[in-house]
Amino acid sequence: MQPTLKSTVKCTDREVGEITRIIVDPLSLEVSHIVVGDGTGGQERQVPMSEVQQIVGHVVHLRIPSSEMGRFPVLNRDEYVTTHEVEIAHLEERLHVEPGEVLVPIPDLERNIKRRTFFTNLTHAIGILLGLPLIYPVMKYLMKPMYLPYDNRWIKVGNVNRIKVEDTGVQFKFRKKVKEAFMPEVEILKNVWLLKATPEVLDEVYKGKDMQFRDSQGSLIWTNNRAFPYVAYSGKCPHLGCGYKWRKVRKLPREIFLCPCHISIYDVSGKVLDGPAPRPLDPVPIRVSDNGDVEIIDVEFKAGVRDRIRIL
Ligand code: FES
Repeated sequence: MQPTLKSTVKCTDREVGEITRIIVDPLSLEVSHIVVGDGTGGQERQVPMSEVQQIVGHVVHLRIPSSEMGRFPVLNRDEYVTTHEVEIAHLEERLHVEPGEVLVPIPDLERNIKRRTFFTNLTHAIGILLGLPLIYPVMKYLMKPMYLPYDNRWIKVGNVNRIKVEDTGVQFKFRKKVKEAFMPEVEILKNVWLLKATPEVLDEVYKGKDMQFRDSQGSLIWTNNRAFPYVAYSGKCPHLGCGYKWRKVRKLPREIFLCPCHISIYDVSGKVLDGPAPRPLDPVPIRVSDNGDVEIIDVEFKAGVRDRIRIL
């Protein structure tokens, strides 16, 4: 005889509750456990059918005293699904319990999500490890341009004899070979703005300190001496990198550097007079030979930020 839901459960010494659910073994299609509730809605314990001595009508007699009920595991509902949720062939023909919650254990691997996740992650990790030797050379090739050292070559841009007046911007153009990522090397036209600065303007440019330039490793490559009269500014506006000009503007007493893109205005020392530029013009390394030839290093700084962060 099979147990019936709501049947009273008695131990050898007293009544201990009623059957609240039944657990079925999905392989044998037999009732494997009865779930006994104490009738107060508290803990429910899973009692194996082997502990059932007999079933008389709606009373299930256990072969143990009530003091031993505590050794049976408390039901964890999350470890089961009902027979309404899973379809088990021939179960209804074999089982004759009254309708109600008939439970089927969830397979251990399904129940233990952590364990399943662990094996999933392990599989992914093994896949990555196996694939790494194949991916690494490709990644190395693709990322190489990002880690190229800065170009610290000195570039001759002209002769200072072109500068006729102090504190006046003079544009010097030069050609430079560049190689962008995986494109072939090309020659582009660039420029710097030079001036022969009076001591007052030099003070504004350098704020009384020599200006140091460093390579990508942080090593010092050059120092612009604060007393050296020639100053070269990068041809790129520190706002967003546009080219700018030396211009006479009505209403201003003297010429200025004007970037037309967003109307940033700089005085001859590179100081921002107006506009969105976040910092003064960027001096670059400069040296002048005895015969007046000018050489610069075409350093570039990140646009749009207050600090000078070298990027090329
Ligand atoms: S790029 Fe020069 S002001 Fe915007």
